[in-house]
Amino acid sequence: MSIVFDENNRIFRLDAGDSSYAFLIEPNGYVAHLYYGGRLNTTDLRYLYRRTPRAFSPNPADGTAEDSRDVIPQEYSTSGIGDYRVPSAKVRRSDGYNATDMKYRSHRIYRGKPAIAGLPATFGKEEEVETLELLLADGDVEFTLFYTVFEHLPVIARSVKVSNRSGETVYIEKAASCTLDFAYGDFDLLHLPGAWARERHVERRKLNHSIQRIESGRGLSSHQHNPFFALVTPDATETAGEAYGVALLYSGNFSAEIELDQFDQVRTQIGINPDTFEWKLGPNEEFHTPEAVLVYSAEGLGGMSRAFHDLFRRHLIRSYWRDRKRPVLVNNWEATYFNFDAEKLIRIAEGAARLGIEMLVLDDGWFGHRDDDRSSLGDWFVFESKLKGGLAPLVKRVNELELKFGLWFEPEMVSRDSELFRAHPEWVLSIPGRPCSEGRQQLVLDMSQPEVVDHLFRAICAILDSAPIEYIKWDANRHLTEVGSATLPADRKKELFHRYVLGMYRLHELLLERYPKLLIEGCSGGGGRFDAGMLYYVPQIWTSDDTDAIERLEIQYGTSLLYPSSAMGAHVSACPNHQTGRTTPFETRGIVAMAGTFGYELDLNKLDEAECDIVRRQIADYHRYNHIIAQGTLYRLSMAGATNPITAWEHVSADRSEALVSCVQPRNVPNGPLNHVRLRGLEPETLYELAGDGRCFLGDTLMKAGLPLPRVESDGCGWQFYLKAVK
Ligand code: DGJ
Repeated sequence: MSIVFDENNRIFRLDAGDSSYAFLIEPNGYVAHLYYGGRLNTTDLRYLYRRTPRAFSPNPADGTAEDSRDVIPQEYSTSGIGDYRVPSAKVRRSDGYNATDMKYRSHRIYRGKPAIAGLPATFGKEEEVETLELLLADGDVEFTLFYTVFEHLPVIARSVKVSNRSGETVYIEKAASCTLDFAYGDFDLLHLPGAWARERHVERRKLNHSIQRIESGRGLSSHQHNPFFALVTPDATETAGEAYGVALLYSGNFSAEIELDQFDQVRTQIGINPDTFEWKLGPNEEFHTPEAVLVYSAEGLGGMSRAFHDLFRRHLIRSYWRDRKRPVLVNNWEATYFNFDAEKLIRIAEGAARLGIEMLVLDDGWFGHRDDDRSSLGDWFVFESKLKGGLAPLVKRVNELELKFGLWFEPEMVSRDSELFRAHPEWVLSIPGRPCSEGRQQLVLDMSQPEVVDHLFRAICAILDSAPIEYIKWDANRHLTEVGSATLPADRKKELFHRYVLGMYRLHELLLERYPKLLIEGCSGGGGRFDAGMLYYVPQIWTSDDTDAIERLEIQYGTSLLYPSSAMGAHVSACPNHQTGRTTPFETRGIVAMAGTFGYELDLNKLDEAECDIVRRQIADYHRYNHIIAQGTLYRLSMAGATNPITAWEHVSADRSEALVSCVQPRNVPNGPLNHVRLRGLEPETLYELAGDGRCFLGDTLMKAGLPLPRVESDGCGWQFYLKAVK
């Protein structure tokens, strides 16, 4: 049993892996948070329920000063009745009032975990997970709090269902997916801000007395912020200290609010961004929030990341490809941009086949009359003057070279210069009387309209059925503006951002049902929609449009805080790099790309013989090591910075018999130190042989004394070491 209810103390304790979480039903019916941290063996926790009268903190009508909602940590917080911290929910009634005051009514505990209709959600077998449904009610509006506990992982999944049992329509102004309160506040906040081509850099700062908000209002989860934050103890490092990670399984407007209050307590929340949301709920209707997942680690950031990786790989990603080795691909984008025809593509495919590459991906520019980014989005039929005879003959020739074929789409977008826009201007997000803003000279389709999604499904199916296409890259190259839809009445206009996400998810679901073996790579101008919600539909996401290996070190480091290596799209590209102008050794570019899904994004025919040999070796290494990278355990060893010249990471196989260590020194230090890296996650008593060297080392020695690195010869030097246990 991982969920226990102590009837005497009215305390719930949830045990997830080596963590416990506890809360109590107060005498007045509110639900007070008690504890979240390392595993406990008792429910005798009533002593943690502290009621202290505080000046200027009002109490509810049925209580005394000690009962103020402003003071006691809560499981789901009220609004308008004296808790001045961030509220969990606000529901407006027909009289216009939105005070929201929910109390415990009942609960049920059962094995397994229900899915959430139309939304991504983690899953688990009955023997792996147990769920608590805690029903709170504010009169006839109910809030069912779902807590699912993963028995072997320090993870609790949470979501909330709002049910309108009244005879009148109500409006949900806010419904957080979860609230997580702490009775103390000495934490650092860690999150992943960024920008296009500079996604998910780690930022860490001490909490201060304010509401710190991490959010997207751009319609997509965005490059700028990721639906994730962690609170970590000030002493937390990669290997030690406590870390609480919170991620939202959602790809649209989200907000995470972290408030250090007047008593140095912390309230945190994550959910749909209330600034751009409202939901009309008729009598007997229900609304289910996106799911949030909470991870606890007593082993610092590394432990938190490994728990997220295990959760996402085993209990979130559904794809047929989840545990399968992905084909090594070459993508033509940086090789040709829009300037290609069938012959040029075939020459790239021939070069790729000679080197052992397994799939050609045809990127943007194959449809409508698209020669640049000003036209044709929405016209998902072949640009015949580039690809004579359509896709079928091209794919046939590519397949004859023993390469699979993949294709780029940008389903949610439309160009003004397109047949689709001319036929259906009403399918575009727009506000009457206001001109539509453009981003990359394109407009956004109204994914809330079922006929738009149905049309896109039919158009994509027609292409996928025209030739053996085994992979698609699903791009989205702008954020949403003029978010209006003629199909929604005035009192539903604020539903549109969420309905857009639901429509986008539905299109994914339809495609997955029809093509269960299709490999889909998510993308939004690089990593602008790299979130846990998308991983329910796609097993991998293009991490960034910045393919520079040195820039990628920081991007992939931040991304790996919660997303597994198997989900990170990463390619070797040409030098000087197209985004930064930097030249990095070819070997290093391979080492960095191998930390993700691995592929190439350059014209292979332009490589010299020495580079071709390196590509062959890299591909052989990919086949040799991919099971360690994709299925193994990641240890981040170091990040290059002011006092440390090396970025290093290590993948260890599940049985700890193999390890792959990757190191890059971005800058050569003239006459610099001799470096070494200390490994982690090995069996201390096991002897490991260093491949290509013949020397053997005890795991214990490698973890304590480390592995020496060769002398650096230039900026961007990289090394990879493979260690195998000696039988
Ligand atoms: C943005 C993507 O991230 C790139 O990889 C490429 O597919 C372009 N879009 C094509 O327009």
